[in-house]
Amino acid sequence: MEKIKFNTLARHIYEEERKYPEATGELSDLLHDLSLAAKVISLEVNKAGLVDILGFTGNHNIHGEDVKKLDVFAHEMMIKAMDHGGHLCVMASEEDEDIIHIPPSFSIGKYVLLFDPLDGSSNIDANVSIGTIFSIYRRVSKGDGPGTIEDCIQQGIKQVAAGYIIYGSSTIFVYTAGKGVYGFTLDPSFGEFILSHPNIKTPKKSRIYSINEGNYLYWHPGLKKYIKWLQEEDKSTGRPYSSRYIGSMVADIHRNLLYGGIFMYPADSRNPNGKLRLMYECNPMSFIVEQAGGRSSNGKQRLLEVKPESLHQRTPIFIGSEEDVLLLEKFIKEYEPAAEK
Ligand code: AHG
Ligand code: MN
Ligand code: MN
Repeated sequence: MEKIKFNTLARHIYEEERKYPEATGELSDLLHDLSLAAKVISLEVNKAGLVDILGFTGNHNIHGEDVKKLDVFAHEMMIKAMDHGGHLCVMASEEDEDIIHIPPSFSIGKYVLLFDPLDGSSNIDANVSIGTIFSIYRRVSKGDGPGTIEDCIQQGIKQVAAGYIIYGSSTIFVYTAGKGVYGFTLDPSFGEFILSHPNIKTPKKSRIYSINEGNYLYWHPGLKKYIKWLQEEDKSTGRPYSSRYIGSMVADIHRNLLYGGIFMYPADSRNPNGKLRLMYECNPMSFIVEQAGGRSSNGKQRLLEVKPESLHQRTPIFIGSEEDVLLLEKFIKEYEPAAEK
């Protein structure tokens, strides 16, 4: 294993920026501000068991799900850390139905930030790994005034950067700016993210699959066949695969990114668009996984090419090791019900 040079996230971001003379440094500042928010959220998550921050706020988010206090804290922390840097024209969050404008007293920039402040919130009380996901675009709306909804619903291929922070046995900040995927582990003793995963590449083929099998009854016939195929014994194709499902997208995809694996949240007869949101869960994770040599699709097309219609729209997602996702797509195509052919 190649010796990893001692480097911090801040230093790495600026080193990367200096490789591109045209870089203005704005994206570097954005990533730096995000790492600040990550440290504060990590602190709160890691003491959540002690402080009365758990339990339900008694409110529901716009998707009708119970919002736990940590979701709200993370949402507010992201806004507080990001709204005054002068690099954003608008933000959007899973926890807010509308787009979030930059306060008039702060200057407006050319970037757009979308985020899921706390992913895997159903796991908070069980002390299971959770995460924050972010996605960054350049503005497309004209002028230099407040950003618009048009800035917030761009195709995933237009992302400038994307990343996640996983709050697990350690806090790791993983991001891509289109030139590879890098991971940094927080050393809480002096509050720095230290380079721990330089240039992450995900295995082309794996032996892990991640899906909520409780929904089996409602799946597409091709997906049922695929999962049963994975469970057959055949040493030459590494079957049966291992089933690993944490129920936090960030944690499941982080493990599969490092070990190899396919993560699936399909549409089903009860949820025709699946559960996960395109703009601030699936697009950023797809950008990262593709940059690490993996593949991400909605079962029929490359996920990053899906044309968004609304800010909180959901999408089926099959993401991970390239050969596994390609094979899944073949099963879906082969067993497409006649009506849909
Ligand atoms: P969030 O907490 O932001 O709503 O996301 C939860 C998501 C995702 O993290 C995870 O993969 C999925 O919900 C799990 O859903 P099921 O419990 O239906 O399997
Ligand atoms: Mn989520
Ligand atoms: Mn969330």
